[in-house]
Amino acid sequence: MALANLKIGFIGAGSMAQGMIEGWIRANVVKPSQLMASAPSDRNLSKLRERGLSTTHDNAELVRSCTVVVIACKPYQCKDVLPPLPFGPHHLVLSVVAALSCPAHEALLRPGTRLVRTMPNVAIAVCEGIIGVVRGSHATDEDMAIVDKLVQPIAFYEVMSDPQLDLMSSAVCTGVAWAAMVMEGLADGAVMVGLPRSLALKTAAITLMGTGKLHMETGKHPGEIKDSVCSPGGSTIRGVHALEKSGVRAAMMNAVEAATEQIKNMSKK
Ligand SMILES: NC(=O)c1ccc[n+]([C@@H]2O[C@H](COP(=O)([O-])OP(=O)(O)OC[C@H]3O[C@@H](n4cnc5c(N)ncnc54)[C@H](OP(=O)(O)O)[C@@H]3O)[C@@H](O)[C@H]2O)c1
Repeated sequence: MALANLKIGFIGAGSMAQGMIEGWIRANVVKPSQLMASAPSDRNLSKLRERGLSTTHDNAELVRSCTVVVIACKPYQCKDVLPPLPFGPHHLVLSVVAALSCPAHEALLRPGTRLVRTMPNVAIAVCEGIIGVVRGSHATDEDMAIVDKLVQPIAFYEVMSDPQLDLMSSAVCTGVAWAAMVMEGLADGAVMVGLPRSLALKTAAITLMGTGKLHMETGKHPGEIKDSVCSPGGSTIRGVHALEKSGVRAAMMNAVEAATEQIKNMSKK
């Protein structure tokens, strides 16, 4: 099916829904008039109406109006939100809900509902995201082709298993917050030695982006990139020593481990 013929609805209109909507509009994947959102209050819906979307407080009305429905409410809300939704054979459901496997989603949806589980990070809003994708048991090849057209313009994506998606959520999607902390730390350091704040922040951001791009485009291992800029007795290796004394890599690994534990605990609830 051509994307131009799709009407896509969001159940939940918070940060993740807004990020996906921004990414899709920015990448010209869909027009605002093809998008709809539902939520209990106008807190987020009013912003989306200003953006040109139609909105409702009635989730069932949204399902009746759309062919693709994105579930974007909180995990604990799903047990009340999902069962009454009137999905039929013409619907494709995408979910961005963390810590709820495909079988757990499917148990809350009408039998036979075509589901694709996704896990985006917030950088989808600027079309530089990462999305893990899990094919639900009733999703078809055509559904996966639609998902490809929807997610490829806003993210690097891979199709994976439910357990891999949970690991990716804790290791990668939450990593935006930790990368932001690294960026902030680099900028604070630059300010400490005398650079103006705005320049410090811009250069820290570009350093992170550029390093990522160097790896993606050259295939160089991070250690190789680090070695290539450390001249003997130079300033960079001094900084590397300071970072190692602070346990920078162990700190990152600890963050991934802690987030993975939390996702496991959320999945059990
Ligand atoms: N934020 C992230 O980085 C991230 C990353 C990956 C996945 N996720 C997943 O994305 C989902 C949404 O997270 P978020 O950060 O966007 O949360 P959020 O900003 O709190 O938004 C939640 C939205 O759900 C709406 N909602 C509450 N009850 C509802 C109901 N009964 N029916 C329909 N909508 C309802 C809220 O309505 P109001 O507008 O009226 O409050 C709000 O618009 C979560 O499941 C989360 O696991 C988030």
